[in-house]
Amino acid sequence: PDFPRILAIESSCDDTGAAVMAGGKLLSNLVATQKVHEQYGGVVPELASRAHQQHLLPVVTAALKEAGISKHELDAVAVTQGPGLLGSLLVGGMFAKTFALALGKPLIAVNHMRAHILAHFIRDPKPSFPFLCLTVSGGHTQLVVVRSALDMEVIGQTIDDAAGEAFDKTSKLLGLPYPGGPHLDKLARQGDPQRFAFPVGAMPGYDFSFSGLKTSVLYFLRKEVAANPSFVAENLADLCASIQHTIVATLLRQLRRAATDTGLRQVALAGGVAANSGLRTALQQEAEAQGWEVFIPDFAFCTDNAAMVAVTAHFQLEAGDLATQLMSPDPRLKL
Ligand code: KG4
Ligand code: ZN
Repeated sequence: PDFPRILAIESSCDDTGAAVMAGGKLLSNLVATQKVHEQYGGVVPELASRAHQQHLLPVVTAALKEAGISKHELDAVAVTQGPGLLGSLLVGGMFAKTFALALGKPLIAVNHMRAHILAHFIRDPKPSFPFLCLTVSGGHTQLVVVRSALDMEVIGQTIDDAAGEAFDKTSKLLGLPYPGGPHLDKLARQGDPQRFAFPVGAMPGYDFSFSGLKTSVLYFLRKEVAANPSFVAENLADLCASIQHTIVATLLRQLRRAATDTGLRQVALAGGVAANSGLRTALQQEAEAQGWEVFIPDFAFCTDNAAMVAVTAHFQLEAGDLATQLMSPDPRLKL
């Protein structure tokens, strides 16, 4: 058989994931998404913890079954240690520790942000080290220099909202369902990105700021709707396109600056916002202009998933980086 065989568990936010990897090859990757949060327009931490508890055993059992291996054949159990919601991390962490203890298998504690980046190593084409990675999700926005699977440095990050949050919060102002990012993306395809001008948060270095955009959209809509109550409905596609254009321009400006300064020519995208069509198109255009090689994983490996935890654990196991039963979740774990 292929070695080593790793069961990986991801429960940092509102998706319960389990994956099995053998010798670096992905055998199964399942995720149970939680619908319960939609009605609240955001993730409710207490409900997320409860749903993880309900989903974990069925998802893990199904992942092992699909991989065609028994729990006794595992060589290690990996789990996301952080960053994330404390309750969610606790449920996954306690499950993994108990599972590993009962089976007498080693435990591997995985950093969720490293895992998003190493998702590029689940399937070909893979970037080679060193490369630059822009991780953009609902919770994070980071520019990272990736020197090796175990050696990464954050050179820039958001000082307020994450890029996905910027999409979701502005979408909410437009009355779109939660999470708004994908809805805004779809509507933006029919709109004019130059129609409305919103400020691009100008940060020094490689940092990002998105809270100003949300505020300016709020005040702009308030003013326009006062004059014309159906302003949003009449201009929805143009509003979406203009907001998306602003967020993408902000991301690309800092990415361009970082690529120029570091001299790195391989540019990778990670996180759920990598699905954004505006970002993908702009990045491809920029890549042609700058001579970059661009890497974007399949969507299933961009959003929260356990396959990325498994591949990270694979690298950690190779390096002998094991955790103990004393491991505890860290909601603010640094990369
Ligand atoms: O990585 P992810 O699944 O979860 C987190 O770890 O946060 O990312 C979810 C985020 C949400 O904010 C969602 O609105 C955003 O990714 N997103 C998008 C698109 N698809 C997902 N944002 C813009 N355009 C999209 N197509
Ligand atoms: Zn994530």
